[in-house]
Amino acid sequence: MSQPILEVHQVGYTFHDTHPVRALVGVTFQARDGEFLALVGPSGCGKSTLLRILAGLLRPSEGWVRFAGQELTGPRPDIGLVFQRTNLLPWRTVEANVRLPLEIRGLPKREADKRVRDMLALVGLQGFERAYPHQISGGMQQRAALARALVKLPRLLLLDEPFAALDALTRERMNLELLRIWAHHRQTTLMVTHSIQEAVFVADRVLVMSDRPGYIVGEVDVTELPRPRTWEMMAWPLFGRLTQQVRELILQGLGSDAHGRGAQHLEE
Ligand SMILES: Nc1ncnc2c1ncn2[C@@H]1O[C@H](COP(=O)(O)OP(=O)(O)O)[C@@H](O)[C@H]1O
Ligand SMILES: [Mg+2]
Repeated sequence: MSQPILEVHQVGYTFHDTHPVRALVGVTFQARDGEFLALVGPSGCGKSTLLRILAGLLRPSEGWVRFAGQELTGPRPDIGLVFQRTNLLPWRTVEANVRLPLEIRGLPKREADKRVRDMLALVGLQGFERAYPHQISGGMQQRAALARALVKLPRLLLLDEPFAALDALTRERMNLELLRIWAHHRQTTLMVTHSIQEAVFVADRVLVMSDRPGYIVGEVDVTELPRPRTWEMMAWPLFGRLTQQVRELILQGLGSDAHGRGAQHLEE
């Protein structure tokens, strides 16, 4: 295998607020350049914490993360992050929100104009450039957030349950859009979702996380499912088998084994 673009090695994380909360323990995995990974796991198992570490917003308590051959020590312009809640700036138009990362980077206006225009077209927001976030639907806000992350042309795109707040139909459409954009840009992508079906539908590989403290219980290779993916595939026996494999790993991660391992790790 060629050198992975992302390497996560024995990453642990403990919050220290009023009392220590161990969120992650011994998380290890790698991603190849251009790969689409999905991450599933029970609520509260540490998925968002892991994504914030991969975005350089949190430093791991243990272990390390290497991206494009360098240890990750803070946020980087070539890593984009989209949250479940879009955190668009309400006083800026869609266009101005998407432009923000380029302003911060000081890109010449002409180039920024073009990039913003291309990206808004790619996510299907032409005609809404001058709208404010509150004037557009949740799905459109999420497209704007995606455009804002993509306008920097990131090599790594991190998505934290990006479509979880949307209705089922919009969510399905957004997943197809996301796959279309990925086919176009081929940025390495890691999407957190709590939907097993969604994970299998979008990914090349599904990583399964245990209960808190989260670690990677196992993974399911989904490359057998051809691309481009279509909704009919969800009715295929292969699709059913793949989701079943993911489900079994989730169940494994919920067992006493998970806690046993977590506790073992604490004593090391
Ligand atoms: N700032 C914080 N201080 C203390 N504990 C936290 C903090 N943020 C998250 N946690 C705890 O860490 C665990 C993992 O949280 P999170 O990464 O948000 O899980 P997930 O995204 O998988 O639902 C949870 O038990 C959560 O309550
Ligand atoms: Mg979360």
